[in-house]
Amino acid sequence: MIHNISQRYGSVALVTGASSGIGEAFCKRLAAEGLTVIAVARREERLRQLQDFVAKTGQGRLVPVVADLAQADGVELVVKAVESSGLAVDVLVNNAGVGFLGPLDTVPREKTIGMIDLNCRAVVDMTLRFLPGMKTRKRGAVIILSSVVGTIPAPWFSAYSATKAFDLYFGESLYGECKGTGVDVLTVLPGLTRTEFQAGSGMREYHSPYRSADHVVASALSALGQQPIVVDGWFNKILSHGTRFIPRSLLLFISRLVMKKELGTMLEAR
Ligand SMILES: NC(=O)c1ccc[n+]([C@@H]2O[C@H](COP(=O)([O-])OP(=O)(O)OC[C@H]3O[C@@H](n4cnc5c(N)ncnc54)[C@H](OP(=O)(O)O)[C@@H]3O)[C@@H](O)[C@H]2O)c1
Repeated sequence: MIHNISQRYGSVALVTGASSGIGEAFCKRLAAEGLTVIAVARREERLRQLQDFVAKTGQGRLVPVVADLAQADGVELVVKAVESSGLAVDVLVNNAGVGFLGPLDTVPREKTIGMIDLNCRAVVDMTLRFLPGMKTRKRGAVIILSSVVGTIPAPWFSAYSATKAFDLYFGESLYGECKGTGVDVLTVLPGLTRTEFQAGSGMREYHSPYRSADHVVASALSALGQQPIVVDGWFNKILSHGTRFIPRSLLLFISRLVMKKELGTMLEAR
């Protein structure tokens, strides 16, 4: 458990997908720890509200940056905004992500390609932009949001599942690469977490217990600097670690049954 984030890594964090859910919870927590938080998302109004909240309650400061990271120039826009603010990013939280449930060929192609750009390309590009500075200063942290779904084949969620597997392998490998440089890398695997993600992806309301965005942030900050990956919550731990002992063909069979039910509910709701 890192007791003083700013002492260990520095006083500036950048969080993508800051306007809701897990990203918003990261912003609030890091600001409460006294960090200056550069908060990136598309919805300016939400970022302004978060800025007001931090100004009223937090010890830190929040700098909103409006950018669409699925666009080719999105990361560049963020880099320019950071440069003009004169801040150096010490803690990078690659959190922004979307997913779309449904048969691959029925989800609009632009949505799927945009998701790959956001969930994969932007994650690597953001890391490429800020990791060199951290390495030069010999301290820093990179946090990457993957998912339990990144460890399981998920029919009708195939491209999303693949982007999260990408994030998992990218983050885990980068942890190995950065060991001894002073930069800690952590990949976070949430399971079902109550945020705006469900509505955005077309998922239904589940009866199983949701974790909260605050739970995910607490798990991440407890594990940062200790281990390469963290799965949030015991149920999700069983799901992602336990399935490693099941033959892939059986895993796919079970996953297909579960997802088929999920898809049926989604189609009925339309
Ligand atoms: N909730 C879950 O059950 C769950 C489970 C496993 C993993 N995760 C992962 O956790 C991460 C956070 O998701 P969440 O649950 O907090 O979802 P969320 O509440 O929907 O938040 C997603 C965030 O990403 C931002 N975003 C979306 N498209 C963007 C774009 N093109 N450019 C910049 N920002 C963009 C959104 O802001 P704007 O719309 O304002 O841009 C929002 O702030 C994602 O990577 C997701 O894959 C979530």
